[in-house]
This record gives sequence, structure tokens and C-alpha cells, in this order.
Amino acid sequence: MSTIPTILTIDVGTTSTRAIIFNKDGTEFAKHQIEYRTSANSTALDKNMPIFSHEGIAITETDDLEFERPKDNPITLIFPNPGWVECNPVNILANCLICVAACLVKLAKRNKQNAARGEPTHEIKTIGIANMRETSILWSKKTGLPLYNGIVWNDTRTSGIVDDVGASHTKEELEDARNKCGLPPATYFSASKIKWLVENNEEIKLLYENPTNDDCLMFGTVDTWLVYNLTRERSYITDITNASRTGLMNLDTKHYDESLFKLWGIDSSRIMFPEIRSSSEFFGTFKIPNLKKFNFNTRLTETAFNDLKKYLKGVSISGILGDQSSSMVGQLVLQRGSAKCTYGTGAFLLYNTGNKKMISSHGTLTTFAYWFANLKGSEGEPCYALEGSIAVAGSIVNYLRDNLKFIDAAADVGPLATRVPDSSGVVFVPAFSGLYSPYWIQTRGNIFGLTQFTNSSHIARAAIEGVCFQVKAILQAMAEDAVDDQDDDRSIEEEMKDLTMTTVTPISDDPEETALPLKNLSVDGGMSNSKEVMQIQADILGPSVTINQAISAECTAFGAAIAAGFGFADEDERIWRNFDDLTNTIATGMSATDKLVSYKCEEAFESRKKKWRLWEKAVERSK
Ligand code: G3P
Repeated sequence: MSTIPTILTIDVGTTSTRAIIFNKDGTEFAKHQIEYRTSANSTALDKNMPIFSHEGIAITETDDLEFERPKDNPITLIFPNPGWVECNPVNILANCLICVAACLVKLAKRNKQNAARGEPTHEIKTIGIANMRETSILWSKKTGLPLYNGIVWNDTRTSGIVDDVGASHTKEELEDARNKCGLPPATYFSASKIKWLVENNEEIKLLYENPTNDDCLMFGTVDTWLVYNLTRERSYITDITNASRTGLMNLDTKHYDESLFKLWGIDSSRIMFPEIRSSSEFFGTFKIPNLKKFNFNTRLTETAFNDLKKYLKGVSISGILGDQSSSMVGQLVLQRGSAKCTYGTGAFLLYNTGNKKMISSHGTLTTFAYWFANLKGSEGEPCYALEGSIAVAGSIVNYLRDNLKFIDAAADVGPLATRVPDSSGVVFVPAFSGLYSPYWIQTRGNIFGLTQFTNSSHIARAAIEGVCFQVKAILQAMAEDAVDDQDDDRSIEEEMKDLTMTTVTPISDDPEETALPLKNLSVDGGMSNSKEVMQIQADILGPSVTINQAISAECTAFGAAIAAGFGFADEDERIWRNFDDLTNTIATGMSATDKLVSYKCEEAFESRKKKWRLWEKAVERSK
């Protein structure tokens, strides 16, 4: 009897991991998520911890438990010092396996029922991975064990290293590096994190100085770490979207660039770096990792363990995307000139520039959006994006909940913030990791304009506005890049034909504001589920932009499924053959426009302008 094809995806975010099995039509078949337990105390990788010790796999008994809150699960996210953010790579792997096993338990149960009824059963055809980007892990080639916790993307400990790189190079040298890798020197990207690790951890330093054939340092972002372990060390690779966030890859050659290593003072001959591949191809075959090596004390039930073996035997990993690329793909932002913003731990606005590598002069980043190398024609070409990254978005809501105790649940933030008509002059600059795009200021968070009138609603509103103002600043920067781009070698008419972005939208009532480069912004991620927050965002952006909330809550994971579906097998057997095939096949739930929730600006120009001026002043004062 024929089987029903499905795709397994693993989505490792900054604060949680989930696995989702998708049907070919884009609907979810099974899902399991673990929110990380965090700690402020652990400063080093605790190798003796019973790593895989939580009881989560009790889900064998129930189909309902889809979301595990941190209770007894191992500590995965660590804040050892102010500004430091680390993750335990082994626990990330453990969380992945638990989430996958949980999904497979559900699949096995359903298959049993189907088989009893004589109906076709479900089969996992391939695996896709989406992951937080830039987070950097170094491990020993010999033992396969991490030598330190992963340094997470929003960690700011390397600000001194970044300052040194800025001070010890000429403007031309820095510009040349920026043109090559698309990124400014910043704590955000992997390069400074690698430099810190080889300078500050004794074990890593020793191996860096004395690499041998037998043992040396291996570097990986989270995708590389997972694939290396989920293929039992057979595949040591990364995809182009993750590699373009290291600061070490040349966007033109798609290879590591010696001059970038030199810029950061990293000797590339002393560390192994994963091979850079496309986002969709054969990356290796799933194998259960060597649990003994990691001292895994798994409580996977025998059934769950057998399901892992049974359903994933010989299954290929064929899709990898950095999570922000993945949500772009999952939202089907596949046309030049279209854009999306994901409000996760941070917020990330990616603008699809097609095959055009645009280098921003106004503080946004150039990055690879995706590369579906298996597809034919232009769909198989690498696609670029301009990216505006905001370090703090959902994390400000957690801060209001956990640190300031203003709310009990994240979902309460919208109602709290809209209990007042405005922030009453309070401006919150949520620069816990410095300000990223388009400002790139190494600073701390600030709250300005407090009076005795100020209450928790004003502060919550100002915190949300602090995120939304940055989205506007990013769109303005992109608009300015688009205008610069028109001064390029080609005529405006030629450019306009080529890239919708140059069609900047005039703002009727707002002559002083830079026109924004798009009419519609597709949004997803936790904060986008709050109608109050999205209305605040729409009011800040002004009347020229409509915000459209993504229909699926799981765009990031679905993007990885798409990459895997495109990368899997030969064309005949592939899950989707091309973009048209994909859009035609996926469920109305993912593609129907009639269910779109949209937000438009309801605020008058004068009050928008006043608030924007206050924000700009606050940014100035934060420098
Ligand atoms: O660049 C960092 C980004 O990949 C993290 O994404 O979803 O964990 O906020 P998220």
C-alpha cells in the first residue's frame, strides 16, 4: 500500500526547540516543543551533569502535551555575567532528540490506527533544520565534545574585540570587509566569538596553538553541530545562510575568505570550518547520536527509542536554513521586493533582493536569503536579502514578565500597553545587547522620561514601541539604500523593472518622513500574535505600509520543510518540484489570503512625528 509522505523539521530557536512533522500540503501532523530552562549561575560546560534527565518523554502516554515548560529539563540557556548569553550544545541536541521522538510517538500511534483500518500510513521522507544563527560552538575533533558552551548570537562580551578591530584597521579595510561579507564588525556575528574563545578558554587556546591530525578545534554554528551529531560525525557542513552570518564568508565566492580571517586575527589553519553548501541538497543520513559519548542519561522509553530507529532509518537531511531565512521561505516571501519581519527573541526584517547583492550604506546587512540548488533555472540560483536585525523583541516581553513582574504571561503585554493611550513621553531603548540595525551602537538599555505619573502600562508601551521604532528605522535605512541604488550604473527605469524595492511608496500626509520601500510587510513570530502590538507597529510605520500577519504560526519550521522538500531526491520523487508546485500544493491554511489579518496606521501625522523625534533623541542619548 502506498504511504503518505511527510517531512520532519527541527527548529532550534534562542529560547526553545521544537520538532514538527508537516504534511505535503503544509499542515502540521505532529509537534512537540521544549522551552529551555535557564540559569544565571553556571559559567562553564558541566560535563558531569545527567544531561538528558527530564521526564518529558512521558508524552508516550498522551497526545496532548505539545509544549513543555522548563521544569526539570536540563539547563540550556545560561546568563553567567551581565551581557553574556551561552547555550549548552549537548542539551540542545538532547532537546532536539526528545522533540523528534515525541513527534514520532504520535506518528507511530496514528500509523497503527491507519493500518488497522487498512488506510495508508505516514512516512518521513526527509528532514529539514532551521536554527538560530551566529551562535558559535567549538568542539574537539577527537572527543566530539564541546570545549565550552556555545556563545549565543546576542552575547556582548566581545565588544572590546570589536572595538579593537575597528581601531586597528583603516576605513578602506573595513569597507572592503563589509563589501565581502555584507556585515559590519559587531559582537553579533560568529567571528568575534571565535576570537574570544581562542583567547579566553585555556583548553581551547591549547588546542588552537597545537593542532594535530588526531585532535584540533572544530567550529560550527548550531546547524553544523546538529548535522554533525545527527549523522554520527559523517557530515561536517553548513548552509550558505548560516555561513553568511559568521563574518568569515565572501558573498561573491561563497567560500571562506582569508582576508576576513586576517581582519579578526584568526588563523584559519588552526581550526576546522565546515564546508559551505546550498540550503537544499543531500546533507547526510540520520543516525542516532552516540549517546554514551555525551553521558546522556536518556529516559527515552524503549518505544520512543525504537520509533527513532524505525522511522528515521536511512532518512536524509536535505534542508538547512538559518531561522530568519527559514521564516522568510515559510511565509513564501520568495519574490524580489517582498519582505517579512519575524518577532522572535529578536526581530528580523528580511527584504528579498533576488540575485542582486546590495551592500547597505545605511546600517542594514547583506545576507544570503536561501539557495535551493536543486531547483531549475532562476529558482535554483542563490537569493540575497537585505536584513535589519533587532536584538531585543520577544525578550523585552520576557523582561517585563520575569524581571519587572508587570505581567504574568507574555500574551498580557498588549492589553497592558494599550491600557494607556500613549507612553506619556517615556521612551524605552531596549538595547540589552546594544542596538543593532541600523544603528550598531554598543550600549545598554535605557528608559527615558520617567515622572511620578509613569506606571507599568507606560513602561510596557514604551518597551513595545522601542522594538517597533527600530523596525521603522530599518525600513527607512532600506529606503535610503534603494535611493542610492538608483544612482547606480543603470537607469532608474531599468532598476525599477528589475527590483520592486526601488518603487518607494510616498507617504501622503508625511512630507518629512523618508518614504518606505514597501507597501506590505508580512509578519510572524510570538509578538505578531498580539493585535495590540501589531497596531502599535502599524501606527509607528505610518499609512504607507500595511502589516499582514502570517497565517501559520510555524513559518520558521515550515521554511525548513520547504528547503528539505526541494532538496530531497530526484525531481520525480521530490516533495515539491518548484515554487508553483509548492504554492499549488500547500493547504489553504498556509496560502489563503481571505484569512489574512491586516493592520493599518490609525494615528495622525503630528503625534507620529512627535514620538519619532523623541525616539531619535533617546537613541542619540544612548550613545
Ligand atoms: O540572528 C539571530 C536569530 O537567528 C535568532 O532568532 O528566532 O531565536 O529570535 P530567534
